[in-house]
Amino acid sequence: MLLSSAFTLSLLSTIPLTLSHPDSHHAPARQITYSVVPSIFLQSDPSTDASTLNFTATNFGLIPRTYPDAPPGNPKLTQWQRLSHYISTLNRKARARGDRDRKQHYTLLFLARHGEGYHNAAESYFGTPAWNCYYSELEGNDTVTWADPRLTEKGIKQALTVKGFWQHLIQDEKIAVPQRYYTSPLWRCLQTADLTFSGIDLPRKYPFKPVVKEGFREGVSAHTCDRRSTRSAIHKQFPNYQFEHGFPEVDPLWRPLQAETREAQDARSKKVLDEVLGDVDAGVEYISITSHSGEIASLLRVLNHREFRLATGAAIPVLVNITVGPGRRESPSSTLVPPFEPVATCAKPPTTRDSSCNDCSCCK
Ligand SMILES: *[C@@H]1O[C@H](CO)[C@@H](O)[C@H](O)[C@H]1NC(C)=O
Ligand SMILES: *[C@@H]1O[C@H](CO)[C@@H](O)[C@H](O)[C@H]1NC(C)=O
Ligand SMILES: *[C@@H]1O[C@H](CO)[C@@H](O)[C@H](O)[C@H]1NC(C)=O
Repeated sequence: MLLSSAFTLSLLSTIPLTLSHPDSHHAPARQITYSVVPSIFLQSDPSTDASTLNFTATNFGLIPRTYPDAPPGNPKLTQWQRLSHYISTLNRKARARGDRDRKQHYTLLFLARHGEGYHNAAESYFGTPAWNCYYSELEGNDTVTWADPRLTEKGIKQALTVKGFWQHLIQDEKIAVPQRYYTSPLWRCLQTADLTFSGIDLPRKYPFKPVVKEGFREGVSAHTCDRRSTRSAIHKQFPNYQFEHGFPEVDPLWRPLQAETREAQDARSKKVLDEVLGDVDAGVEYISITSHSGEIASLLRVLNHREFRLATGAAIPVLVNITVGPGRRESPSSTLVPPFEPVATCAKPPTTRDSSCNDCSCCK
């Protein structure tokens, strides 16, 4: 018994930790768990009202405070510089503890929601019941396309406001910039990330070269706004973007009148976060993710963050506490092709704007 567990331990320490893929029978089993470091940002505090917090007016919600192991008195350091020092101290200490089986790492995520798209404007125009039960399944109307929609003028302005905010944070607050960028494959996110970070004065070491990942897309619904464009169309418009390995030409997930279940979405969010955050030895501390309202809500559930709804064009940082330990192999339910369920629609747009018909029950 003793011999066999010693053998297992030495095996674990010689095989590099790689993500256990459901298809792989050789990768060591490991489990990645997440929590949020409390009292760093207002948005992770349960008493903060998500609907009124203005992230540009509050320094991204960063709470003015001191941290343990603060650098010896330099009053000129900004709050963001002191936070960077704290994060690198947490990571240095976690590495020094050097547990072979259980690794700890801290990463600051910047989660940004895209600016307003034509589908957002159309939902406000028609009202949610008529949108959900009728118009959202169409490609658009005579004037507007809302299938994989572009940003509206307002959405473009929102993204440029966030760009100005980042420029201010870099110049005046000495914020640590993202070392890696990821985006959803849907057009509104590709465009928002581009408008936000292109042309910002970034260190040469960490250029804006986002990776497009299927796992960061919005919950897949029957709405045509959740069907992505082809890989070649994305590449043509955003030539400096990279694609994750195996990213197919045609959307593999969207299908008419079917929707991904919430459980399937959370399993996909867990999988994509494990891919992005699980390589704790890479030492990456700052990551930007451009995604969607529903998907960010799902990511926050997986991270064990409180619920926090973002307005279009809004962003929140989250300091994530990552533990990689031995554990069971991932279950087959976390593969990328998720379970779907049929969606109800109406033959004609309902005239009510009453939210009790958002599920189309009033058509029956
Ligand atoms: C991170 O999580 C670990 C494991 O739950 C915990 O022991 C540690 O105190 C946490 N770190 C911080 C800074 O909250
Ligand atoms: C948020 O605060 C900024 C100032 O930092 C202000 O210009 C902007 O109008 C505010 N946004 C909202 C939605 O109140
Ligand atoms: C199409 O929908 C938009 C709402 O996004 C609306 O402003 C516009 O008037 C509609 N066009 C027609 C021809 O109905």
